This record gives sequence, structure tokens and C-alpha cells, in this order.
Amino acid sequence: MALRWSRMCWLPRCVLSARIRTVPTSRCLGLQRTLTSAPHPLQICIVGSGPAGFYTAQHLLKHHSQTMVDIYEKLPVPFGLVRFGVAPDHPEVKNVINTFTQTAHSERCSFLGNVAVGTAVTIEELQKAYHAIVLSYGAEDKQKLGIPGEDLPGVYSARDFVGWYNGLPDNRHLSPDLSTETAVILGQGNVALDIARILLSPLDLLKKTDITQAALNALSQSRIKRVLLVGRRGPLQVAFTIKELREMTNLAGIQPINCPSDYQGLGDIIKDLPRPRKRLTELLIKSALKKHGENEVVQRTQSNREWGLRFLRSPLAVLPSEDGKRAAGIRLSITRLEGNGETAVAVSTGEVEDLSCGLIVSSIGYRSIPISPRVPFLQKSGTIPNSMGRVQGVPGLYCSGWVKRGPTGVIATTMTDSFDTAQSLLEDIKSGTLSCSNPRPGASTVRELLLLRGVQPVSFSDWEKIDAVETARGIEVGKPREKILDPEEMLELIFRGHTTRQL
Ligand SMILES: Cc1cc2nc3c(=O)[nH]c(=O)nc-3n(C[C@H](O)[C@H](O)[C@H](O)COP(=O)(O)OP(=O)(O)OC[C@H]3O[C@@H](n4cnc5c(N)ncnc54)[C@H](O)[C@@H]3O)c2cc1C
Ligand SMILES: NC(=O)c1ccc[n+]([C@@H]2O[C@H](COP(=O)([O-])OP(=O)(O)OC[C@H]3O[C@@H](n4cnc5c(N)ncnc54)[C@H](OP(=O)(O)O)[C@@H]3O)[C@@H](O)[C@H]2O)c1
Repeated sequence: MALRWSRMCWLPRCVLSARIRTVPTSRCLGLQRTLTSAPHPLQICIVGSGPAGFYTAQHLLKHHSQTMVDIYEKLPVPFGLVRFGVAPDHPEVKNVINTFTQTAHSERCSFLGNVAVGTAVTIEELQKAYHAIVLSYGAEDKQKLGIPGEDLPGVYSARDFVGWYNGLPDNRHLSPDLSTETAVILGQGNVALDIARILLSPLDLLKKTDITQAALNALSQSRIKRVLLVGRRGPLQVAFTIKELREMTNLAGIQPINCPSDYQGLGDIIKDLPRPRKRLTELLIKSALKKHGENEVVQRTQSNREWGLRFLRSPLAVLPSEDGKRAAGIRLSITRLEGNGETAVAVSTGEVEDLSCGLIVSSIGYRSIPISPRVPFLQKSGTIPNSMGRVQGVPGLYCSGWVKRGPTGVIATTMTDSFDTAQSLLEDIKSGTLSCSNPRPGASTVRELLLLRGVQPVSFSDWEKIDAVETARGIEVGKPREKILDPEEMLELIFRGHTTRQL
């Protein structure tokens, strides 16, 4: 079957002339049931189907019986970083998908996947169709290092590397070169630890996860023996959390290679630290000193892989190989700290250190991008300026999640801030600040526009077809799912019946 890529989204050619899907009868009946006391439904649109989008929808649907919520997603599949970010060996974290699925099954909620807002449909068009728009489109870009050699082969952003092993369509051809012995990860956050764990985990553990087959194949050929996580500040400023550090220290057959001197004097300081930081630092010290224990020789001979933390080193340049064609090392500026605790700042001492390595992953954070000239955007922080989720200067526009507060925080943090945004919206409806007196058409006019542009939205039940196929393919190989990497294949699968009729 012929499929083609449209500029705005993935689109099977067969559906170019398809009729607009009608709203299922059950949903219309539900509407009548819930809206008998109101002149018209409150049409709300959410952009992005990650945790922020789904938690915002959940709160709105739960606390206002006349809201109709449409969730637009640029990919044919929902759940954002829960599918494409959360590490494959953390299946329990992905259980939030069950809650999101319940929300999507509400008769007052629709999912429109395969629709990139900003290109397939504009914010202005959505403003005409809906009473309110919530921007929950996350942080899909990477933070640049801004150093020479950053674009050399062998250097990857964490965003792309994680996308590769998690099956993000854009990164399916990444094919990172793992034929080197030493990998350096720049940054000491939880994403950096995720990547280190994936690079070092025994293959037997990963085989039972939903990691992509391409990543499994590459990891089975990997020659990486040593992973170093480099931070520009010290042990008291690491950004990862204790659970993730413990997982790393418990990884079978992996030795820590830390410098005990990095931890000298910390014993006196930690007693005054806040409890989470205190416990984290205690574990860091324990793991750093482990290799000097009685069992050191035994442990070292049993293990063939190692990992370590390097502190007070800031990336200066990627060093090219002799032929200049790829990365062969990294030059680090040795730093010292000015100030104390969380707010201490790394300042260069003027000294440098070169580290040889064939793989460099820059894990210094994600970054949101502007979606439209109509939406204010703070370039410096990469966020939408807002007050409790109300976008500054644009009535009817709200934001939640990473695009609201920047690319930090776990799913639980994102849930709280999404509930806050939804609450602001509900308060604005109640106070009359949000104008809802005239009816709005909601998705119906947007669907017409999309059809004219050759864009076919993917519904939640369409996604469930993909889900079923992925799960079945996973069962065959002993995994929870085998993700489909190619959006064309996803669309072919969804619209196959449709195409048969067309042909
Ligand atoms: C690698 C990684 C691992 C993580 N692991 C964990 C973990 O184990 N536990 C935990 O609690 N937290 C984890 N987090 C944090 C968690 O993923 C975030 O808190 C959360 O996903 C942020 O939600 P969000 O909805 O703001 O963004 P996202 O999850 O990124 O969702 C945004 C959605 O918007 C869509 N979108 C983007 N642009 C458009 C557009 N123009 N039109 C339509 N749709 C668009 C995207 O495709 C995406 O689906 C992890 C984060 C990362 C990066
Ligand atoms: N298992 C989990 O729960 C899990 C897994 C993955 C991600 N997450 C969450 O997702 C969020 C994002 O994680 P993340 O790891 O991408 O970000 P992060 O926690 O903000 O860590 C970013 C790291 O990059 C460093 N960094 C930033 N800019 C730098 C620069 N210019 N040069 C050198 N180093 C630089 C930071 O150091 P400084 O501190 O010095 O700035 C920090 O060590 C976090 O809230 C994280 O907890 C959670």
C-alpha cells in the first residue's frame, strides 16, 4: 500500500479523499446527558498528550461536567515521554498510562493524534474553534553545549540517544557507534543515569523490557566497558536522585571507579543537609569508598564493566580523531565552586583535562520550542510566561507541564502543576474571565480544515489497534511490547481496512 509523508504529519495517500469521521453516537448521547442544564458545551483543546496533557484533561473532565476536551498530538501515538523518555527497565513508571487511558475513554474526551499544532493547524484556528487552549507540548528539543566539535559523529544528545532506544520515530535511524571502550556522559541528572544504566546493564535484563530490537542488537555488539558521568559541580550538587543511584550501584557486575578524595570532608557537612540530599550523599560516599573495601580484588576480577562520577569539570571542546572525522575525546575545564549547597556556581580554574572516549552523550537537559508567534515565549528559560498556568497577555490560553515550568520534574510534579493549570481555567470559567457565552464548534471545524490539508487524525481507538499489534509482537519475543518505529507502518496498520475499501 502506498503511504506518503505530508509536511504536516504522516498520512496514508488512501485517506486523502476520505470522509471526515463522525462523532460516535455514544459520545453524542453522553453529551446530551451531561449538558442538559447548559446552553452549549465548553470546548477545550489541549496540545500534547504527555502527562501534562492527560492530567490537565483529567482534572477538567472531573471537575466540570460540561467540558468537552480534545487532545491534539503530533505523533500517531499518545503519552509523550512516558513512552519515549521513561527508561525501558522502569515498567512500573509507565503504569500511569492506565489512568491516561481511562481519561481518553471518557465520552467527553477525544484524542487527535498525527496532528502537529503549529503546522497542520494553527493556534489562531484553534482559538476560533475552542473556548480555551491548554499548551502542554513539553520540551522536545535539546539543550546545546555550545562548544567546538559538538556536531562531530560520536556525539549525541541525550534526547536523541533516549529517543533511539525508546523507539521515537525521529531517532530510529540514529545507530550510535558503540565500538569504543569509554563513553562519557555530560551531566549528572536522572537522564544521564538512565543512559549509563542502559549502556551497562546485562543484556538479559534489557531483553525483557520494551527497548527496541535495534537498540538490543546494537547493545549486544557494544564494546563499552567504562561509562563516566561528568558534572561541572560537586557531589553535593548532583541532580540525580537516590533511587536511581541505588539502581546503578546495585547493577550486577558493574564496578564503581570514583575518586575517594572527591568526598573528603563531606562527612562533616552532610549532617546539616536536608534529609533527601543527606541520604543521597551518604550513598554516594558509601559507593565511592566501596572499591577500597576488603572485597575489592574479588569484585574487580568478577566485573568487566565500570562506571564513575567525575566532578568539577565543565565541557570545553570535543576533541576530534586524527583524521578529524569523529569524536575521540573531550576537553574539560577544571572548575571550583563559588558559594555553597544547591546554589553553588562552577567557575573555571584555568586548568584543563583531556579524556579519551569514542562516545559522548550530552545530557544537560531538554528544551521547549516556540509554537506560534501568537504565543509569548521566553527564549532564556525556554518556557511560556504564565501566571498559575494562564499565559501572560493572551486570554483563553493556558499552559501546563514542561513547557510551563521548564524541563525538570518527575511525572508527579507534572501532575500537580497540570491540576493547578486546570484549576486556574475552571476558576476563570466560574468568574467569567474566560468568555464562554458563545458556542464554539470544537473539533468539527478543525477536522474539516485537516481534511482539506490532507491530514488524517488518529483516534484513541486507532492507537489501541497499534497498541494491540505492538503487544502481540512483544509477546512473541518475551517483551511487554515491540514498538513500531515507523509512523508509516502505524498508519498503514490503522487504515488498512480503509485502504482496502478505497482500492
Ligand atoms: C529521558 C527521560 C526519562 C524520564 N523518566 C522519568 C521517570 O522514570 N519517572 C518520572 O516520574 N519522570 C520521568 N521523566 C520526567 C517526565 O517524563 C516528565 O515530567 C513529563 O513527561 C513531562 O510531561 P509533559 O506532558 O510536559 O511533556 P511530554 O511528556 O514531553 O509530552 C509532550 C507531548 O506533546 C507533543 N507535542 C509536541 N509538540 C507538539 C505539537 N506542535 N503539536 C501537538 N503535539 C505536540 C509531544 O509529541 C508529546 O507527546 C523522564 C524524563 C525524561 C526526559
Ligand atoms: N527515574 C526518574 O525519576 C527520572 C528519570 C529521568 C529523568 N527524570 C526527571 O526528568 C527531569 C530532567 O532530567 P535531566 O537529567 O535531563 O535534567 P536535570 O536533572 O536538570 O540534570 C541536568 C544535568 O546537566 C547539567 N548541566 C546543565 N547545563 C550544563 C552545562 N551547560 N554544562 C555542563 N553541565 C550542565 C546539570 O548540572 P548543574 O546542576 O550544574 O546545572 C545537571 O547535572 C529531571 O527532573 C529528572 O529528575 C526522572
